[in-house]
Amino acid sequence: MLTLAEACERNKGPILAVLTGVFAASRSVLEIGSGTGQHAVHFARHLTHLVWQPSELGEQLVPLAERIRLEGSPNLRPPIELDVRRQPWPVEAVDAVFSANTLHIMAWDAVEDFFRGVRAVLRAPGVLCVYGPFRYGGAYTSASNAEFDRFLRQRDPASGIRDFEALARLARAAGLEPAADYAMPANNQTLVWRRPVPE
Ligand SMILES: C[S@@+](CC[C@H](N)C(=O)[O-])C[C@H]1O[C@@H](n2cnc3c(N)ncnc32)[C@H](O)[C@@H]1O
Repeated sequence: MLTLAEACERNKGPILAVLTGVFAASRSVLEIGSGTGQHAVHFARHLTHLVWQPSELGEQLVPLAERIRLEGSPNLRPPIELDVRRQPWPVEAVDAVFSANTLHIMAWDAVEDFFRGVRAVLRAPGVLCVYGPFRYGGAYTSASNAEFDRFLRQRDPASGIRDFEALARLARAAGLEPAADYAMPANNQTLVWRRPVPE
């Protein structure tokens, strides 16, 4: 039986509403850390102008590939193995990169690799869209996010909710400009950066 993450069922509608605008001019999207594939299936089905490329770590690939085989629309590609720490990423250039709930799971040096990889694969113009919980000015956006962060760090001290300002620094170093920050249900955010066309 395929795993169904309840959070994905709840957040896929609100995220799609944002992506519909943010990815309007994009034709190809690379998703990092696709997890169960629920997001990839939902977004590809509704954003039919896009080719959606899901990816995951090796150990997660089999169930992800199975969901995509069973539920995927024609514009959803079979998933590829992609560990952000292994550079260069095994993909061609794309118009957009999407990732949900990954930056607080991977260690900080992998977050740095994430932005390094985005820099290498994103076309100009291009867009990076990251969904999840973040801290601002060192403060959590809710008590439940503070509790979630304690849980994450107890389970894996290298993980944890990331500071928006630290991500913004990595984005700037990767040649990205801040474009939007959408407040989402359940104290999450969708952060958007754009790579401008060089002058
Ligand atoms: C909390 S899950 C989120 C899954 C899905 N995106 C979602 O929103 O439900 C975090 C995902 O990040 C992936 N991940 C962790 N470290 C990674 C890395 N170094 N490279 C790529 N993906 C990674 C995990 O395999 C996992 O599927």
